[in-house]
Amino acid sequence: MARLVKKEYKAPLEIKAGTKSIWICMCGLSGNQPFCDKSHKKAANEDNKIYVYENEGNRIEVKNWEECYNDT
Ligand code: FES
Repeated sequence: MARLVKKEYKAPLEIKAGTKSIWICMCGLSGNQPFCDKSHKKAANEDNKIYVYENEGNRIEVKNWEECYNDT
């Protein structure tokens, strides 16, 4: 089963573990979940549109998101 998950964060969450920091992916784009792999940089210039990110790094705007989202 596939699903779309809406994420709005553009940066990781830092968790302190003693003297170390662990960076948790909050953008949903990391290929090393749950850890940040800096893929969030792809989302840095997002505007108020909805995008799907392909593995190749392409970004596609999703139009009619509201129609899909409200069809529950
Ligand atoms: S926050 Fe998702 S890759 Fe960094």
